[in-house]
Amino acid sequence: MYAYDELDRTIVNERVSEFRDQVARRLSGELTEDEFKSLRLMNGVYLQLHAYMLRIAIPYGTLSSKQMRALAHVARKYDRGYGHFTTRQNIQYNWIKLAELPDALSDLAEVGIHGMQTSGNCIRNVTADQWAGVAPGEVEDPRIWAEILRQYSTLHPEFSFLPRKFKFAITASEHDRAAIKVHDIGLRIHKNAQGETGFEVLVGGGLGRTPFIGKTINEFVGQRDILSYVEAILRVYNQYGRRDNIYKARIKILVHELGIEKFKQEVEEEWAQMRDGALALQDAEIEDIRSRFFYPKYDNLSDTPDELKKALQNPNFEAWYKNSIAPHKQPGYAIVTLSLKPVGGPPGDATAEQMDEIADLAEKYSFGEIRVGHEQNLALPHVAKRDLPALWRALDKIGVATPNVNLVSDIIACPGLDYCSLANARSIPIAQELTRRFANPDTANLIGRLHINISGCINACGHHHVGHIGILGVEKNGEEFYQITIGGRADENAALGHLVGPAVPYDQVADVIEDIVEAYLALRQRPQELFVDAVKRLGVEPFKERVYATR
Ligand code: HEM
Ligand code: SF4
Repeated sequence: MYAYDELDRTIVNERVSEFRDQVARRLSGELTEDEFKSLRLMNGVYLQLHAYMLRIAIPYGTLSSKQMRALAHVARKYDRGYGHFTTRQNIQYNWIKLAELPDALSDLAEVGIHGMQTSGNCIRNVTADQWAGVAPGEVEDPRIWAEILRQYSTLHPEFSFLPRKFKFAITASEHDRAAIKVHDIGLRIHKNAQGETGFEVLVGGGLGRTPFIGKTINEFVGQRDILSYVEAILRVYNQYGRRDNIYKARIKILVHELGIEKFKQEVEEEWAQMRDGALALQDAEIEDIRSRFFYPKYDNLSDTPDELKKALQNPNFEAWYKNSIAPHKQPGYAIVTLSLKPVGGPPGDATAEQMDEIADLAEKYSFGEIRVGHEQNLALPHVAKRDLPALWRALDKIGVATPNVNLVSDIIACPGLDYCSLANARSIPIAQELTRRFANPDTANLIGRLHINISGCINACGHHHVGHIGILGVEKNGEEFYQITIGGRADENAALGHLVGPAVPYDQVADVIEDIVEAYLALRQRPQELFVDAVKRLGVEPFKERVYATR
């Protein structure tokens, strides 16, 4: 956990009182909706299909129990009793009333959370590996750097009006859980041949209308230089990024059009003039941030406690244990993923009751800490293995122990036509139907790791391009159709999926996905060959044949 200082608290509180005044002026009619728009967006407030929507940042996906209770309170008091966890470590509320927004934000400010920079053409919430600080083999805790970037970017005067929104993601593990290759800037912390810690910097990744995988602009930027280096990138983007065409405004287009070599040259020229200036990081500054992160005092516990051995004889516990538990850097402890993907439920939703209970369980079993991942699940990062059976029973009671993490029903989906004013088609009901089709745990285990990602339009909020199976809602003559891609992935080997064939109507999507999965089961070389690997080996053709032969 990180402890905010007085400056952070002042910024957040002042913003709330400023916004309270702006809302009052909107309500009295002094401000038109048009005039109000940029003010609300600066606080994460969108106007959606049915109501205002509030987006709240969860920097690097770390929450305290106290903060989780505040999120539950807002869901209960100001919304309809639930919130929606997104693919960028944010939470969204869909039904907040304008008049109550300032109170909701003020209640959140008490625990240091807010909606600043969760929208608009600025540096958005910096996201990180959700297992930061606890994953074995990590080079160091990437949240220290996410926090440095957060402080650097908060209310940054020069970068509050970029050509378009700007997203950072950061990891310090070999296995990328933060999707750094599909962010505007992705940072991978690693060590060079001299044993020094620094950053591989990727630039120009992103999804949406024109998807790109990020390109490495520099293999190794030292710790002292990382802020000045990313500032050089931002300056080049701010200067050359297109402002005349919203579809060509993201940095990925600039990098693509200039080519990475030319872009790099521009950046290095800019950097040369300022790398030794005020942004050069001193060790003392880094240490100061590092010292504000608190780590639990772990006990020396058995890595194979009797409680666990006994519980593993229960097949239901074993099924959950197999895919919900990840190794922890401290022996005797585990990272526990909580599935927000119940059979028949909207992916990523949590009720106020669930959030409160999770906050209590985090206090009891995980040193009061909770994580939010980009796959729309939660995690308890420091659970003693001997407590796993008791924790499982408690999680099961509140419906967050579905044994499907990383399996075919662990679906990522945007809100689609159920909430979003930009949508062409529904996403949530497709996800719900698929979770029902693949509800049988034996079938799901047979299929193995398979990620389905769904977006209701080309904006790609559901990351459909990088789903092992991607589903994209498109409109044809006023009806909902869906394009299906296969072979995408969002990890360290990130790739964009390939189109299987013509779009299919709403009521055929689940059948088509079942066909694709069946084709995979028939075609895979051995049970360990993952779906994405089979697609890579075989290409799209055999899947296409299977899907369209009978249609
Ligand atoms: C319902 C309100 C929402 C609206 C109006 C909205 C709008 C948008 C738009 C316009 C873009 C494209 C930006 C561009 O191409 O430059 C976008 C991208 C994105 N949205 Fe949303 N979104 C909404 C909800 C969500 C939700 C619920 C999630 C998570 C489940 C999400 C996650 C993302 C992500 C990850 C991207 C990035 C795609 C990229 O790499 O460019 N959004 N959103
Ligand atoms: S992908 Fe489209 S439909 Fe889905 S939330 Fe984003 S903007 Fe809305």
